[in-house]
This record gives sequence, structure tokens and C-alpha cells, in this order.
Amino acid sequence: MNLKGNDFLKLLDYSPEQIDYLLQLAAKLKAEKKSGVPHRLCEGKNVALIFEKTSTRTRSSFEVAAHDLGMGSTYLDSTGSQIGKKESIADTARVLSRYLDGIMIRTFGHDRVEELAKWADIPVINALTDLLHPCQVLTDLLTIEEYKGKNLKGLKMAYVGDGNNMMNSLIVGGLKVGMEVAVACPEGYRPPQEILDFAAGYDCFTLTDDPMVAAKDADVVITDVWTSMGQEGERAAREKAFAGYCIDEKIMGVAKSDAIVQHCLPAHRGEEITEEVFEANAGPIFDEAENRLHAQKAVMVTLMKD
Ligand code: CP
Ligand code: NVA
Repeated sequence: MNLKGNDFLKLLDYSPEQIDYLLQLAAKLKAEKKSGVPHRLCEGKNVALIFEKTSTRTRSSFEVAAHDLGMGSTYLDSTGSQIGKKESIADTARVLSRYLDGIMIRTFGHDRVEELAKWADIPVINALTDLLHPCQVLTDLLTIEEYKGKNLKGLKMAYVGDGNNMMNSLIVGGLKVGMEVAVACPEGYRPPQEILDFAAGYDCFTLTDDPMVAAKDADVVITDVWTSMGQEGERAAREKAFAGYCIDEKIMGVAKSDAIVQHCLPAHRGEEITEEVFEANAGPIFDEAENRLHAQKAVMVTLMKD
């Protein structure tokens, strides 16, 4: 599969076969890491890690992934660099393209990532925008495969909560790999029209405001915070709007008896998920966190390896 030089901005740009290729490569790299087999596949390369929002998992997993692949990494954030108000995305892209072999960026508007990719001569990887979080969803699919088997076709994914970057990328990723996808969110917090237009092409997509309908017979139940980064001023209104959208034992009771829960973290126990459901699913949730490392390695190898 030759994807060298491509960007990884959204799963919409990737075919089911390409997504499957990334998942299989991630599983292989994970097995190598576990058995101590070195995989310095990008020896001598360098990747920039740009953070305009905070991060624990994304920063550490990208840094470790780069190190394991034999790459250097350069961390840039908006307070300690010229990025943001002080220098345009276009100029930043052209400068970084002179030093580095790839750029990972976490930012606000998705247009910033698109702009960076337009001006950069090197692959750009989206590590979360207000609209999408494709690295996380590739990771979630890898984790679901580990728990439910390699064939994801026909499995039911339920997402309960905000129509945010996670829900948007899960709808696209889940439908592309052949899963049934059901999402429950209150009116006013639904996914944007471009995501609903994509989903409209699939019979196996359900949008509801009832978490019990979404979770019914689900193989995997997924949620995320009600207030994403950048929305802190809306917290009170969101807490009100999402009352009833907490993943609890009642909602899990209508899912399949062997259903797993996924949460990209950080989690707010008592808001989008109860302490009991979170802890009962700590295994798959922290496997999901670990898998960021392996999935992102697969992305960087595929886009950046000679
Ligand atoms: N899930 C995730 O992206 O976590 P961080 O915000 O800690 O990177
Ligand atoms: N929806 C969350 C995801 C965090 C990883 C946010 O954007 O803050």
C-alpha cells in the first residue's frame, strides 16, 4: 500500500482497505514492541509535534512512537513558539518543511490543519481538531478488533454524548469498516451536516436522542466529555443538556452482555460515565490509551518511511 507523502487529516480521505492496512500494521508494530523486536523504520527522520491545545496521551504517545521508530521529534506549542497569532500557518508550514519529514498538529478549527497541509511539502497528521480526531478513532478500531476479532463488519458501535470531534470521526471510521453505528445526542449537539451527509449513504446508521435506543444490542459503547477543549464557557449549559446521557449500568444493561466501553480520555466520572461502568471497563479503556502508540506508529511509518 503506497501512501508515502500523504496527509492523515481525516478518515474520510481513507478507503476501507487503507484503514485496514493501517490497523494490521499497528497490530504488527504492537507485537514487535511487546516482544522487544526493534522497528526503527524511520531512522534519521524528524517529526514536528504542534500543540495549540493541551494533551497527555497524544504528546507522550507520539514522542515515544517517534523514538521507537528512530526519529527525532520537535515539540512546539502556541506559548513557546511563533505559531498562532505571531506567524501564519502558511509560513510555519514552509519553514517546518525545510527541517522535518512530517508534522503532527493538534489545534482548534479544522481549517488550520487543512491550511497547514496545503502549504507543507511533508505529510501532516491531524492529532485533533474541533471537528475530528482520526488518530484516536484508528486506535479505537484497533482496540475493538483486539476484543471482538478482526472482522468488524456487522458489529454495532453505539456512541452516547456530544456530537463532537470523537463522534464525528467514529461515525466515519465505524461506517467505513462496515460497523453498524448508532449515535445518541440531544438536539443542538448533533454532528455537523457534512458528517450526517456522509452517514446518510449508509443504511446501518442511526441518529437518535435516546441513549437506550443507541446502546441496544451494541458490541461497543463509546462516550467522551460533554465539554471539549475550547468550549469551557459552555460548561453549565452543556451539563444541563447532557443530563440523561451518562453511560451507566442501565444503558449498559441493554447492550450485549459482552459489550465493551471505550473512552478516549480524559474521563469525567459522574458526568458522561459512572465510576462503576468506567472501572468495570478499565481494561479496554486503558488498552485503548496504550494503542495510541501503536496506531500512530503505523500512520507515521506509512506516510513517512522511505
Ligand atoms: N485522547 C486524547 O487525545 O488524549 P490527550 O488529550 O491527553 O492527548
Ligand atoms: N472531545 C475532546 C477529546 C479529547 C481527547 C476534546 O476535544 O477536548
